[in-house]
Amino acid sequence: MSEKAGMIRRYSVITRGNAPHLVKVPHVIAMVGLPARGKTYISRKLAHYLNWCGVNTQVFNVGEYRRLMFHNQYDGHDFFRPDNLKSREIRNELAEMAMKDMCTWLHNGGEVAIFDATNTTRERRQMISDVVQEQLGYRLLFVESVCDDPLVIESNIKEVKLSSPDYKGKDPDESVRDFMERIRHYAAQYEQIDEHEDCEYSFIKIYNVGEKFLVNRIVDHVMAKIVYYLMNIHIVPRTIFLSRHGESELNTKGRIGGDSGLSERGREYASLLGEFLDEQQIPGLTVWTSHMKRTIESAVNISAPKEQWKALNEIDAGVCEEMSYEEIQDKYPEEFALRDMNKFRYRYPAGESYEDLVTRLEPVIMELERQENVLVIGHQAVLRCLLAYFLDKNYDELPS
Ligand code: F6P
Repeated sequence: MSEKAGMIRRYSVITRGNAPHLVKVPHVIAMVGLPARGKTYISRKLAHYLNWCGVNTQVFNVGEYRRLMFHNQYDGHDFFRPDNLKSREIRNELAEMAMKDMCTWLHNGGEVAIFDATNTTRERRQMISDVVQEQLGYRLLFVESVCDDPLVIESNIKEVKLSSPDYKGKDPDESVRDFMERIRHYAAQYEQIDEHEDCEYSFIKIYNVGEKFLVNRIVDHVMAKIVYYLMNIHIVPRTIFLSRHGESELNTKGRIGGDSGLSERGREYASLLGEFLDEQQIPGLTVWTSHMKRTIESAVNISAPKEQWKALNEIDAGVCEEMSYEEIQDKYPEEFALRDMNKFRYRYPAGESYEDLVTRLEPVIMELERQENVLVIGHQAVLRCLLAYFLDKNYDELPS
């Protein structure tokens, strides 16, 4: 890996130990689209998701290579003119640098690399395909974001682009004008992926952030998983609330698991939670609980529709259910020590591990992505897994 690339910000890398590997052959996901079409947002979100699922994923953003090369100095849209031969050469060189680092990373055990650049010409896509598929024998999926909704483009420019280092400290109106020019330069040479002409490629075209999709040549499980995820995410602003259930009877005794109801203090919490949420008047709120009494009872005072998910049930502690941690240490000292050594992968005898829980929670995450405002009333281990997904935490941090 080049020295420059070593300095590029990395999105978290998580590998799964002894779980079966989903990815047999490295995959490259190459983004396609004009600036301000959400390519970077999609790339990062997809990387969060895949890493959370145990697929070692990393984003290679060509814009970051440019900023690094020019020490964050940006002199305006002329750099992106198609007739500016000198800068065109530099842009190709930057893309090649990112490609080289990406291939080295995949060669060294990376599983899915996301190549985040505009890749708007057939020539560029051909170059990617030649290297990735022909030379290296890896799999390639193009993800194109096509968007002609002026409101989406404008909000992307204002909310995302203006805070980029390119426009730091510059006049916002002037920056918007500059960015629009930049888009115009790319549009002048943009060749969309064509369902007939490019039919040999694997691709998904996303129109107006999810209004419509065109999917072609999905050849394996990894691609199918990615396509399914991309078809579920949206950009409508919303809030996901996570709450632990109120204190349960077993909690008061310091015993784990089981299915007891709420204690007196737990019921008080449920009552305050109901008051708090009703005061917030959250539009379209849905409340999700597990199938366990302590979460269902915690939701009773909230006046919003409720759904129960078995997948949200607490980690199954197997033979240790309803025991206190002291009892477990006493009766199963080896188990206790093993869990301490690797809390993420440790599986209770006849029970589950955090790793199992992540797998069990995948449909919940997928559905959460589809929803708008949701409150999840959950259990300690389950909420840790959900938080790790949203906060992009790795497996070492997840169980705490
Ligand atoms: O103690 C409450 C509880 O929800 C148990 O049911 C569960 O086994 C435990 O927390 C999970 O936390 P940890 O993984 O830290 O033991």
